Amino acid sequence: MFVSRAAVSRVMSASARSMSTKVAVLGAAGGIGQPLSMLLKLSSAVDELSCYDVRGSPGVAADLSHIPTKASVKGYLGASEGQEEELGKALTGASVVVIPAGVPRKPGMTRDDLFNINAGIVKTLVEGCAEHCPDALIAIISNPVNSTVPIAAEILKAKGVYNPKKLCGVTTLDVIRANTFVGSHLQKDPATIDVPVIGGHAGITILPLFSQVPGFTATDEELEALTVRTQFGGDEVVKAKAGAGSATLSMAYAGFIFAENVVKAMKGEECVQCAFVESSLTDARFFASPCKFGLNGVEEVLPFGQLSAYEKGWFDKMMPDLKAQIQKGIEFAAK
Ligand code: NAI
Repeated sequence: MFVSRAAVSRVMSASARSMSTKVAVLGAAGGIGQPLSMLLKLSSAVDELSCYDVRGSPGVAADLSHIPTKASVKGYLGASEGQEEELGKALTGASVVVIPAGVPRKPGMTRDDLFNINAGIVKTLVEGCAEHCPDALIAIISNPVNSTVPIAAEILKAKGVYNPKKLCGVTTLDVIRANTFVGSHLQKDPATIDVPVIGGHAGITILPLFSQVPGFTATDEELEALTVRTQFGGDEVVKAKAGAGSATLSMAYAGFIFAENVVKAMKGEECVQCAFVESSLTDARFFASPCKFGLNGVEEVLPFGQLSAYEKGWFDKMMPDLKAQIQKGIEFAAK
């Protein structure tokens, strides 16, 4: 079949366009947002980086724009006196939206204590996504993830654009913590370890499956200590920061790994990583488990395999908490 040169160049530019990836970070001037934006600016998988915040984002974007990598960077601000709302511009054309906007924990606070402020922030930002980039994959970092993801789902549903393949809570920090702690326990390079972490992202709803790590051995006491440390690793950072917030640098790294994997998968490099997604694996509507990511986001929610008796004990303990936190999000969105 004869194909004209013009047609070839149309096809090429269409495919080049479809390969071009804009990632938007909402909350880009924050403790997580800044290093996360920097890591995304360094990634060869990202073509365009959009940094949105209610303060400081033009400065962050200008700063990042001097790094000599291919991604173009623009900063956008929320509305304030004399300043128009730029959320729409920040989101238009985005394929992936990462949301670390919100307030972090202080000592003595649980993730659930953040609910009242962060639920409203996530609601507003996801409404923006529904309007300006309804097809984008939304990755939610803002806590409490167990509730903010169900809020986002309900908002997207109400707007008629919900696609469960395109909404994830980011639980990668739990995975990288588990890998680090197991690496140190087994005296192995943590980069060679990949612990599946299932459930949710708060306290006992975080369940690391050490029984599935090849070569893993531990006494009962060691196993208990590793499990509890993974569940409450965030508290170590909150305590050490003594009122100055929660994990930002390790979270930025985790958010980057998650988002870059999503972008690469959308460009044809399938990958498996854990995420908190709509799921039928258990009777909780949302559940974190390994997921296969591809061209369209979450292509498959994978089963999490056999649990040991010890893990089953934690599983039974966590499910009521997880379901209650999901329900809290659903009820907030219905108000
Ligand atoms: P931060 O206070 O340093 O930064 C938050 C940023 O969000 C600020 O720059 C603020 O201006 C911005 N922001 C607030 N309202 C906004 C809105 N409506 N639109 C756009 N931006 C807005 O806080 P940090 O430490 O970066 O934490 C952010 C969130 O991430 C918190 O909810 C925290 O609990 C959560 N987090 C989640 C983790 C996870 O594993 N999923 C781990 C660590 C923190």
